[in-house]
Amino acid sequence: MRVTLKTRIWVTILIIVLLFSFFILFYFPAQQEKYLLKDFNKEVQNLAGTVALGVKIALTEQNFEGVQTAMDFVKDDPHMKFVSMLQVDTVRDEKGGLKIERTVFKTYPENVKVNPNITTSDSIIVKLAPFQTKVLNGEILLGFSTVDIQKSKQQIRLTSIVVSAIVFLIGIILGFWLAKRISVPLLALRDAALLVGEGDRNQHVYTKTRDEIDDLSKAFNKMVSDLKLAEEKILAAQNQLIHSEKMASLGQMTAGIAHEIQNPLNFVNNFSQLSKELIGEFNSADNEEEKLEILSDIKSNLEKINHHGKRADSIVKGMLMHSRNNIEEKQLTDLNALCDETMNLSFHSMRSTVPNFNCEIEKNFPTDVPKANIILQDISRVILNLLNNAFYIVHEKSEGNKDDIKNFTPKVSISTSYKNGFIRISIRDNGNGIPDSIKEKIFEPFFTTKPTGEGTGLGLSISYDIVKAHNGTMKLETKSGEFTVFIITLPA
Ligand SMILES: Nc1ncnc2c1ncn2[C@@H]1O[C@H](COP(=O)(O)OP(=O)(O)O)[C@@H](O)[C@H]1O
Ligand SMILES: [Mg+2]
Repeated sequence: MRVTLKTRIWVTILIIVLLFSFFILFYFPAQQEKYLLKDFNKEVQNLAGTVALGVKIALTEQNFEGVQTAMDFVKDDPHMKFVSMLQVDTVRDEKGGLKIERTVFKTYPENVKVNPNITTSDSIIVKLAPFQTKVLNGEILLGFSTVDIQKSKQQIRLTSIVVSAIVFLIGIILGFWLAKRISVPLLALRDAALLVGEGDRNQHVYTKTRDEIDDLSKAFNKMVSDLKLAEEKILAAQNQLIHSEKMASLGQMTAGIAHEIQNPLNFVNNFSQLSKELIGEFNSADNEEEKLEILSDIKSNLEKINHHGKRADSIVKGMLMHSRNNIEEKQLTDLNALCDETMNLSFHSMRSTVPNFNCEIEKNFPTDVPKANIILQDISRVILNLLNNAFYIVHEKSEGNKDDIKNFTPKVSISTSYKNGFIRISIRDNGNGIPDSIKEKIFEPFFTTKPTGEGTGLGLSISYDIVKAHNGTMKLETKSGEFTVFIITLPA
């Protein structure tokens, strides 16, 4: 069972208040009454003693008026019920034993009939004070009314009830206040912590309690701003890494491309040289037939020059697309062309690191795929990342299969399609696939299975972010040991 802090505080205070109220209501008045009664008893006893002494002196002096004066000593006390002078005699009872017999000698007020053996009861306090003279052995019997005591008792009870009610009320209010004072900032802290957990780093809690809760919220606020700062630092570091990764792959690509451009340039040089020589031959040709043949050779050479020139042009254009184009804005882009060029780039780049790398390449670009509004540089990076991964894995597989290399032909395919306002780009390889155990992790930044220096683990995470920023999705299908397909869907 979950008990909230508020309830705990409440219950604790309630118990304390109840205990305290109980004390005020019962123990405190009982104690008070006890003392009150004790004091009163003592007072009456003292008075009886004083009267007895007065009577004794008067009797010794045989001054009977003095006896009256002594008894009058208590006459004015409003609590007095009666004062009697008793004669005490020791007599033999029927069985021959001794017994004390009291007789009332004189009483004030005179009309009151006093039983000499009267004892203290609820309504009256009775005290005896003995005196001895030559003429008489006696006792003063003093009766005082307890009416006032009873009144005081009631007064005390009433006060206790009122006080305990006040204590109870104050306790309840205090409990309310305390519970609120503790639980409100705590709940605010809890809510803020939840929001921080969800990624909101601008949560701050303000308390004015000047206590540990205040310290806690200050520490919490500091933690959040530290977290924010640390995240910003990580982000900056990450951006730096992304940048250097971009630069590194660009450098690698440039090397590959330069190598690839060399090839068509060689053709251009050779065929133009050849054509120059053919023109010489043309000039010295004897018959028309020979001249026509030379002309057709020159034409075919020029066509080859043109073809290879175009190839160099497309490679350079593709490279420029990645390096020079720093436009961070969306532009309508032909994704088919982009995929085609990026495929060439990635393959050339692979070839620049593994010179005799061979791979079957399949492209499928239906013409109905419309242009998409994308940040060209970013999407081409995504395609490049996926293709680079694909080439890497098929190469790795072919290396591993060296013994029976005939059984494995590396193959990387790229295709586009269009359906219901979405363009799909799939990049497939027949590499080793991605095991289930790391499927969840590959999109995490810095997750890589490649040896240091060969992978940063940033490719997929960056790609995922880019696709997400384009309101697209990136899905993965793979079978261990057989294939991997990454499918990007982008709104057209
Ligand atoms: N086509 C693929 N086939 C098999 N594994 C892949 C493929 N693409 C990515 N991976 C796995 O995902 C990991 C992360 O890829 P990526 O984020 O591009 O970083 P990197 O390529 O630097 O390792 C790779 O190290 C690899 O284990
Ligand atoms: Mg990669």
